[in-house]
Amino acid sequence: MTDVVVRAARTDEAGVLLDFWARAGENAARPSDELDAVVRLVERDPEALVVAELDGRVVGTVIAGWDGWRANLYRLAVDPDVRGRGIGGLLLARAEQRLRALGAQRFCAMVLEDNGVGREFWASRGYVPQDEWRRWVKAASS
Ligand SMILES: CC(C)(COP(=O)(O)OP(=O)(O)OC[C@H]1O[C@@H](n2cnc3c(N)ncnc32)[C@H](O)[C@@H]1OP(=O)(O)O)[C@@H](O)C(=O)NCCC(=O)NCCS
Repeated sequence: MTDVVVRAARTDEAGVLLDFWARAGENAARPSDELDAVVRLVERDPEALVVAELDGRVVGTVIAGWDGWRANLYRLAVDPDVRGRGIGGLLLARAEQRLRALGAQRFCAMVLEDNGVGREFWASRGYVPQDEWRRWVKAASS
């Protein structure tokens, strides 16, 4: 996809990104998005939130999160109008490149069991599910 620009997100795009995720993201089984949280992420780690831009429009995202210990990938999403053209692969390659450079030895992604396309995508990029783990969570407010 030669016309696609892959770059770091800006804080002033937080609203655009929330709208984008509402229509393009994997939105089941997670808390709702907050504008402040997106701004906080970009301010804390300006290279973590990666966007794909086509004709001046955001058409894809991925968060390449690095906490100094583990590398976690979130919010991989591509605009439904332009899926199947390699943009997801382009974003993931950029994210992996960043995380590898920071010292990551392994990349982790959360994938809903019933997200068939998501599973196909990650499998095509060499990811395998870890059956021996389950994610345990607790609300920070509890
Ligand atoms: C998953 C997603 C990001 C893929 O983006 P994309 O730009 O369409 O993906 P690509 O074109 O780069 O495809 C890469 C590979 O993924 C697989 N793939 C992509 N779409 C697929 C589909 N509809 N069916 C089966 N496999 C698919 C293929 O193996 C493909 O490789 P190929 O082109 O060599 O066949 C996109 O479908 C999406 O945004 N889905 C909704 C959000 C989501 O579920 N995100 C994942 C969260 S875990």
